[in-house]
Order: sequence, then structure tokens, then C-alpha cells
Amino acid sequence: MAYANPPPLTLRAERLKGRVVLVTGASSGIGAAATRLFAAEGAKVIAAARRKDRIAALSRELVDEGLEVAHVELDVTDEASVAAAVGFCLERYDRLDGAFNNAGQGGGRGPVHTLDVATFDAIHAVNLRGVFLCLKHEIAAMLPSGGGSIVNTSSIGGLKGGAGNAIYGSSKFGLAGLTRCAALDYARDGVRVNAIAPGPTRSEMFDRWMPTEEARAAMAESFPMNYIAHPADMARAALWLLSDEARWTTGAVIPCEGGLSAR
Ligand SMILES: NC(=O)c1ccc[n+]([C@@H]2O[C@H](COP(=O)([O-])OP(=O)(O)OC[C@H]3O[C@@H](n4cnc5c(N)ncnc54)[C@H](O)[C@@H]3O)[C@@H](O)[C@H]2O)c1
Repeated sequence: MAYANPPPLTLRAERLKGRVVLVTGASSGIGAAATRLFAAEGAKVIAAARRKDRIAALSRELVDEGLEVAHVELDVTDEASVAAAVGFCLERYDRLDGAFNNAGQGGGRGPVHTLDVATFDAIHAVNLRGVFLCLKHEIAAMLPSGGGSIVNTSSIGGLKGGAGNAIYGSSKFGLAGLTRCAALDYARDGVRVNAIAPGPTRSEMFDRWMPTEEARAAMAESFPMNYIAHPADMARAALWLLSDEARWTTGAVIPCEGGLSAR
């Protein structure tokens, strides 16, 4: 049977009312969907990304809808840039309550002996070191006001090994470990740190990897639920972890991947 995506869900509550939330990689895909959803749920969102034109346009659109969204340029590989983005949140709102560390980079596929070190370093610099830098500065900003909630974007590639996926997979496995360790560091300080582990999700990154409908259908078919997710499906999982509804959940890496890791 051919796969068919159902229409996006449109739920709306106020799970993040008044919370100041930083979203990285907000210019497209899961990050853009999260910016929209978190703002609709009452958060004051700071959309952070390298592509300033795109986050400016997204925040303008959401502000015009009556939502509270600001934007700041951010390259997660650069510690000064991360510190400045967190500083922007503190200057503007005097606090930081939540963060969705979602910026990520794909690519670098192939068997290990064919891979080059520069590609390994570049992908790990975003997916693992970049999230480390974000955690470091975000947590320092959250501690004085009593804590907060952080969600990182790992991947199904960080839960299961995959042929040809050594670089990306190891960065996302590392991120799952970083999430668990940081969660334990701050378990008694009111800072929760969790991760979502998306499976195939329609985004720019995904479409670069799976450029044809045939490829996407074959990918969907290889998953138990025969499904390619909407970016908003991932944003919704992150929303739950960010919100007080998940107040007893920390150090979790939640699979959002149509059942693959159940096998
Ligand atoms: N789409 C999928 O199938 C899938 C599956 C598993 C995990 N993920 C993860 O989801 C996250 C979001 O990806 P997406 O699918 O929405 O793709 P996307 O390409 O639309 O979004 C990735 C975002 O990260 C940003 N980014 C990359 N390097 C950055 C840097 N140095 N500094 C700041 N921002 C940077 C990009 O500009 C982009 O906005 C990534 O971490 C990705 O690894 C995606």
C-alpha cells in the first residue's frame, strides 16, 4: 500500500504561556515549525539561525499574527555567537526558561574508510559540539532564575546504527549521551534536559537526502508506520518535553520515528 501523509494536526493550548524559549535552527523544517507552535502555545520565542533573512521573515509573519517572536543570528559552531544569542534573550527578557537545540547538519554518508576527517569534524561541530556550547550557555542563564527545560534534537540515527551513517549517527549517539549526562548534572537544580529522536521528517535536509517521491515512498515503507512525519509532529514532541506536563521527565531520548526502534 502506498504511504500517504495525513493532514497536519492543529491543536492549540497555552502550555508555554509566558515562557522565554530559544529555538536554534529556526529558519526551516522542524525549527521553524517549533517556533510557530511554541509561540502559539504562549511562549516568547527567540528564533535563532544563521539565515537572518529567513528568521526575520518568520518572526515578522508570526508577530503579525499576534504572537511574540524575536530573532537573533546564531552559528552554533561559534561559542561567541552562542553566548551572544543567549545574552540577547537575557537582555530582552531578563530570563531564559526553555531551549530547543535543534540546529543540525546531515550528509557525510559512506562506509568509514571512505570518509574524510574534515567532514566528520564539520558535522560533529554542529550536531554535538554545537549542542554542548548551547547547553553550557543556556544552563548558566537558567540557573539564577530557578531552572528551565531544554530539548535537544537527536535522531533515529542516534538510537540505531546504520550502514553508511557513521558520521551523522555518531554525532547523534553522542548527543543522546550528552543529554543524559547534562540531565543528571542538573537534576536537583530545576533544569530538565531531554531529547527527541526524529525519524524521517519532511524538511530541507530530508529532501536533499531523499529528493524524489519514489525515494521518499521507499523510505516510508521501511518504517513500521509507513510514514514520513511533518516537522510539526516533531515540534509537538519537543513541546511536551519543554512544558510542565513533562516535569518528571529528564534525561529521556524520546523516539518519534514511526516505530522503528521498537524492532
Ligand atoms: N528531517 C529528518 O528526517 C530528521 C531526522 C532525524 C533528525 N533530524 C534532525 O532534526 C534537526 C532539524 O533538521 P530539519 O530536518 O528540520 O532540517 P533543516 O535543514 O530544515 O533544518 C536544520 C537547521 O539547522 C540549521 N543549522 C545548521 N547548521 C547550523 C549552525 N552551524 N548554526 C545554526 N544553525 C545551523 C540550518 O540552517 C537549518 O535551519 C536536525 O538536528 C536534524 O539532524 C532530522
